[in-house]
Amino acid sequence: MQFFIDSADTEEIKQAQAMGLLDGVTTNPSLVAKTGRKFKEVLEEIVEIVDGPISAEVVSTDAKGMLKEAREYASIHENIVIKIPMIVEGLKALKVCVEENIKTNITLVFSASQALMVGKIGATYVSPFVGRLDDISTDGMELIQQIRTIYDNYAFETQILVASIRHPIHLVQSALIGADVATIPFQVIQQLAKHPLTDIGLEKFLKDWEKVPS
Ligand code: G3P
Repeated sequence: MQFFIDSADTEEIKQAQAMGLLDGVTTNPSLVAKTGRKFKEVLEEIVEIVDGPISAEVVSTDAKGMLKEAREYASIHENIVIKIPMIVEGLKALKVCVEENIKTNITLVFSASQALMVGKIGATYVSPFVGRLDDISTDGMELIQQIRTIYDNYAFETQILVASIRHPIHLVQSALIGADVATIPFQVIQQLAKHPLTDIGLEKFLKDWEKVPS
């Protein structure tokens, strides 16, 4: 399973990279807005930090505008993946990107029928948002299971990129289902390694070590 960080904060990205876990990065307009920086500048910095897929999201809502943005971002670096919203215009843009060999990540996916369309057209990644489904009392992980089954039934090559991850259990469940990628906020990456029994155990070992003659 690949680990991406869901962040546009280059300091967070560097810290996650140093942990040796990072395979890629996803950004979105909200995450970029938080940085207070120009997106192109941030993107150029990220591609230097991480040698893996970096998702850059288009903000046009028509296929023509999406494709203009897609071609611009794709020309920055071969690792750039174009993130396109799951709307009809987005599907039109996706089809052209597939023809032009531009890597894609279809975002804001909330149903199996949307994911089926994305897999059929042949996106590189599909991004179902599990946390936002949980927020409205719908089981986000059930959607991941459904997409896994559908993609396996038809041998679709689109990779399932679990997004809107809120806690470590989302990640563990994604791995059990066999999702290809999880994009994880920095705070959750830090939580993954933590266990109170690890901390208690280490404290005891170090205390006992003080009794060992040197
Ligand atoms: O980047 C897309 C997704 O991961 C956003 O997550 O927490 O805003 O629902 P969240």
